[in-house]
Order: sequence, then C-alpha cells, then structure tokens
Amino acid sequence: MPRRDPAAITATGVTKEFAGATGLHDVDLDVPAGSVASLLGPNGAGKTTMVRILSTLLRPDSGVIRVAGHDVLREPERVQAVIGLTGQSVAVDAKLSGHENLRMFGRLQRLSWPVVRERSAQLLETFGLADAGTRAVKTYSGGMRRKLDLALSLMAQPMVLFLDEPTTGLDPASRHALWEVIRGLVQHGTTVLLTTQYLDEADALADSIVFLDAGRVVATGTPAELKARAANTQLVLTTTSAHDAARLTTCLDGYHTVADHRTVRIAVPATGDGGLKELRAVLDAALRAAVDVESYAVRDPDLDDVYFHLTGHARPAEAEAAA
Ligand SMILES: Nc1ncnc2c1ncn2[C@@H]1O[C@H](COP(=O)(O)OP(=O)(O)OP(=O)(O)O)[C@@H](O)[C@H]1O
Ligand SMILES: [Mg+2]
Repeated sequence: MPRRDPAAITATGVTKEFAGATGLHDVDLDVPAGSVASLLGPNGAGKTTMVRILSTLLRPDSGVIRVAGHDVLREPERVQAVIGLTGQSVAVDAKLSGHENLRMFGRLQRLSWPVVRERSAQLLETFGLADAGTRAVKTYSGGMRRKLDLALSLMAQPMVLFLDEPTTGLDPASRHALWEVIRGLVQHGTTVLLTTQYLDEADALADSIVFLDAGRVVATGTPAELKARAANTQLVLTTTSAHDAARLTTCLDGYHTVADHRTVRIAVPATGDGGLKELRAVLDAALRAAVDVESYAVRDPDLDDVYFHLTGHARPAEAEAAA
C-alpha cells in the first residue's frame, strides 16, 4: 500500500530523563496519517511521558518530533491547534454541567455556535450522557467524567488524537462505543495514538504497536506480527483429572507443554502451511496417551502472550509449572 504523506507523527531519538528515573531513551515513532498506533508497556514504561512530549505538554531532553507536519518544539501552537488530547487524569470543570463544559471547550477551539451546539449534543448522545448533560459534573460518577473528558477531546475533530488510557474505568458498553467513535474518526482521516493496559483494545483498534519497557522501544509491528513472534498456536486440552494431565504431559515429551491442574497447553510447532499438519501430529500424540479429555480448544496467541514474551515474565500458569 502506498504510504500516505506526510506521516502524522514522526519522532526520532526522543530522550527524557527525570531526576532518578529514565522517562524515555532514544525512542523512535512513525505513525502514518489515518491510522491507529498503540503504545503498550508495563506501568512506568514511559507511555504517558511520550504522549505528553508529542502533545507539547513536556519538553524532551533531545529528539526531533513532527506532528501533522509541524515541529513540536519550534511550533507548539500549530501542533496544539490540530491535536486532541485525553490524559490519564480527568480534566473537566466539576462546577459546570456536561453541556457547559463542551460548549466552553468548543468556543475555546473557535468553533461556531451552531457547530458547538450540534457536536456537543451528538457527543453527549454517543457517550450516553444526554440525560446527565444539564447536571453539574461534580454529581457525575467516575466513568461519566471520563466519558465527558473523551467527548471534550473529540469536539474539534482533531487531525491527530492522543488518547492516554481512554477506557480505564469505562463499562463495556461505553468502551465499545468509544471504539466505534475512534473507528469513525480514523475513517475520516484522523490519526490516533492510543495507550492502553487493555491489550484486547489495542488488538481491536491498532494498525501498529510500539511496545515500551523501561523507557525503551523493545518491539514494533502490527498486532499479528508481534503475536506470531511471541508465541505459537496452542492446543489446550482439559482432562478429567490432574493425574491424566500429568500423564498426557509425559506422553507429549518433545513438545513444549504447560500443565496447570487438569489443563495442558501444547505449543503447536509453527510451519509454513498454517500449522494444520503439525496440529494433527499433536492431536495424534495426545490421542496415544489415551487419557479422558473433557474439553479442547485451539488458541491463537494474543497480545497478552506478546506482553509476557516481551517483558520476560511468565504467564502465571507457566510460572507455577516451572516452580
Ligand atoms: N514528572 C515526573 N518526575 C519524575 N519522574 C517521572 C515524572 N513523570 C514520569 N516519571 C517517571 O518516568 C517513568 C515513566 O512514567 P510514565 O508515566 O510515562 O509511565 P507509563 O508508561 O505511562 O505508566 P502507566 O502504565 O503506569 O501509566 C516512570 O518511572 C515515572 O516514575
Ligand atoms: Mg501512563
């Protein structure tokens, strides 16, 4: 696919030291316009620091950064005019109502009154806040404030939208509603940089992933690429007793297996044909063990596997099995 130019976000060699802590070390980022990139990584990895630097809130010690064609350090006002930002800490005015917050924000963004009226009504509706719109925000629940915060960042239909853990604290319906909003924006050309601890969210939304750990980029790629690198497809067999699971594991000597009580997970070796033949070989070996199998599943690697692979932590069941 031809690259759409200019890239919406490019960052090279971004470094930021805090007293006593490495915020970021030599981080590169390249996000094509009209795509969703996700920054992932453990707590303290540097995700929020990166978002704050890209959105002009924090100066890096070094690095070259352009957002929507503007230099973040030299032209911060130009960058601010085309971005939207939802931070990890909620930034709404609690004395005002939801409506008033949106109206004030829209006017600060120099939107016309008709546009402000239409968009604020639309956004309150999208996030299920239409009824609560006239109430003071101090009477809102945590999730309602969060949704209003998101609505504010969407008022100006930004070219580049930074969302730092946007769905933390949201109920499942609101999470999915936000995903739809994000997909709609991206279809209309908005570029989104998202951080999240919900790896299924990154999987559902992101075209590309940048995985940070201790301030450094440790992996980049599409969700599919990272999953394929992190783990194999697994055949998961649940036997009727822990004894059978142990016997099955012994019979599968030569395969990588992890047993957890009655469940045995067997890595299906990766081959060029999609692994079908190998799956059959694993099944044959399992059948030869002649144990009672209660249920089975074939499980593809997910971003949780990527997380555990990249951070060097074992999945809890694997850690137990190794102990
Ligand atoms: N203002 C600051 N002063 C000192 N240290 C800071 C500051 N901001 C961030 N840090 C440190 O920089 C590192 C990265 O923090 P950051 O908030 O970017 O992590 P994060 O990936 O967003 O984590 P989380 O998943 O918990 O939100 C941490 O070690 C943090 O303690
Ligand atoms: Mg953070």
